[in-house]
Amino acid sequence: MKERGKLTVYTGPMYADKTTHLIGHAKEAGDNGIVFKPSLDDRFGGGDYIRSHNGEAHQAVLFDAKKPAEILKEIAKLEGISQAIIDEIQFCASDVVTILEKLLVQGLNVIVAGLDLDSEKNWFGSMQEIIEMADKVVNLTADCDGCGGDATLTYSKVPKEGVVAVGAGDLYGAACESCYGGLSKS
Ligand code: ADP
Ligand code: TMP
Ligand code: MG
Ligand code: ZN
Repeated sequence: MKERGKLTVYTGPMYADKTTHLIGHAKEAGDNGIVFKPSLDDRFGGGDYIRSHNGEAHQAVLFDAKKPAEILKEIAKLEGISQAIIDEIQFCASDVVTILEKLLVQGLNVIVAGLDLDSEKNWFGSMQEIIEMADKVVNLTADCDGCGGDATLTYSKVPKEGVVAVGAGDLYGAACESCYGGLSKS
């Protein structure tokens, strides 16, 4: 039996370089890696790419966030893959936790990125469980829009209903704990 793979999680608020890190891993992995992204993220022109806020991109396989088992099916079609890289994992249905476990048991190293908290400071999707099961967690920060200090939170620039609203600087900014209350419009 193959040795269990390792799970690495990049997390933090928006603009914290999560996708930038994944693009770096994807380039390093080359043909040994495969990149996934939920199709509902159609920002910056969309398409079969993960895209960072500063315009970097890397080819990715799109999947339905409600059906993360599609990731397993896609990987089963391929040979020689040792690394699965998944962006925007906070959008995935809760069975993503089981899917990650299956990938790890298969011996794949899995690197994911996701928001730990939504703009109301609640855990986003299954991120708490994913962080708990990780071998390595990289907590990233952005620059606070209020004071320029370390931002650990994302605030909403417009009144918001529901948790999911795909967007970028039009909808969201980054804030530290002290500035969050003054910046949030939700
Ligand atoms: P994430 O996936 O975490 O949202 P990206 O890797 O897509 O982040 O983009 C990070 C980039 O966004 C930064 O390197 C920077 O160029 C840009 N950026 C825009 N707004 C901010 C901000 N408030 N703080 C830090 N970086 C920002
Ligand atoms: P990013 O972390 O790569 O910047 O992308 C985060 C995505 O999550 C972006 O499309 C906006 C979305 N989002 C929500 O749907 N709800 C939220 O509460 C927050 C903070 C972000
Ligand atoms: Mg991103
Ligand atoms: Zn601040």
